[in-house]
Amino acid sequence: MPLPKAELHLHVEGTLEPELAFALAARNGVELPYADTEELRKAYAFDDLQSFLNLYYELMAVLRTEQDFEDLADAYLERAAAQGVRHAEIFFDPQAHLARGVAMGTVVEGLWRALGRSEEKHGVSTRLIMCFLRDESADSALETLEAAKPYLDRIVGVGLDSAEVGHPPAEFRAVYEAAAALGLRRVAHAGEEGPPEYITEALDVLGVERVDHGLRCMEDPALVERLVRERVPLTLCPLSNVRLRAVDTLADHPLAAMLDAGLLCTVNSDDPAYFGGYAGDNFHAVRDALGLSEEHMRRLARNSFAASFLEDDEERRAR
Ligand code: HPA
Ligand code: ZN
Repeated sequence: MPLPKAELHLHVEGTLEPELAFALAARNGVELPYADTEELRKAYAFDDLQSFLNLYYELMAVLRTEQDFEDLADAYLERAAAQGVRHAEIFFDPQAHLARGVAMGTVVEGLWRALGRSEEKHGVSTRLIMCFLRDESADSALETLEAAKPYLDRIVGVGLDSAEVGHPPAEFRAVYEAAAALGLRRVAHAGEEGPPEYITEALDVLGVERVDHGLRCMEDPALVERLVRERVPLTLCPLSNVRLRAVDTLADHPLAAMLDAGLLCTVNSDDPAYFGGYAGDNFHAVRDALGLSEEHMRRLARNSFAASFLEDDEERRAR
């Protein structure tokens, strides 16, 4: 029986496995610049975040219809359930689809067709978090929030992702203020490749209640102390950090030191189809590489529910 856990850092577009990418390409008459799944998998050798993002955005070309988004999310939820995920807070990147002429309604309603019956079908409760692309403009983020207004009953919060360095959180103050006024929860990627200052800015300027990655906080002891004191959850993604070269090897990952420092760490999969593993795979990988105890593993699982956007009664049921 895998340890029951919540997944809090998961890009649904990053769950597109090569087999599904080719199946959707055939269904939609989209030509992929790879001969087969084997050749595509060979392209999964990344130097940094940007080299991954190039492929991640390229493969999205196969996602065109509600059915495609439903199939994508349903395949993820089935895999997640098999690894003990009982609750998933799922990111999506609407701007990457709007730019290709795929409407907000197609994306949200398609995802919802899978998410809406996930508890019944997979035993996994879900929330949807809409991310803004930080390498697009602040105006584009505001337009995206506007386009999402008819679907806000389906969306629990907003996030910020894509290329981090050179795109500090403060640029997105206005859209985060507007999102807060609409009652949306707020998270943001910060401190994956970007400096610790971006984590501070995400907290102080964007008002985020959870930091995605947050890895580089370890360079700033005063920031670590603050994150501990304020019990700010961090959604770490160990296999992602290795594949995107944020750390050299899993054995070098600071997760154990972060737990020892008292940080509210969670372990997540980020883009599992690209980084070599789903939530349970990430749990096992850090346990083996860092020699984490059963108590550590139970703490990580507890943290994942505590840091989620579940209400207390839902949280008890999910664990
Ligand atoms: N970091 C930033 N943006 C992303 C990622 C990531 O790991 N995955 C998908 N978009
Ligand atoms: Zn991410």
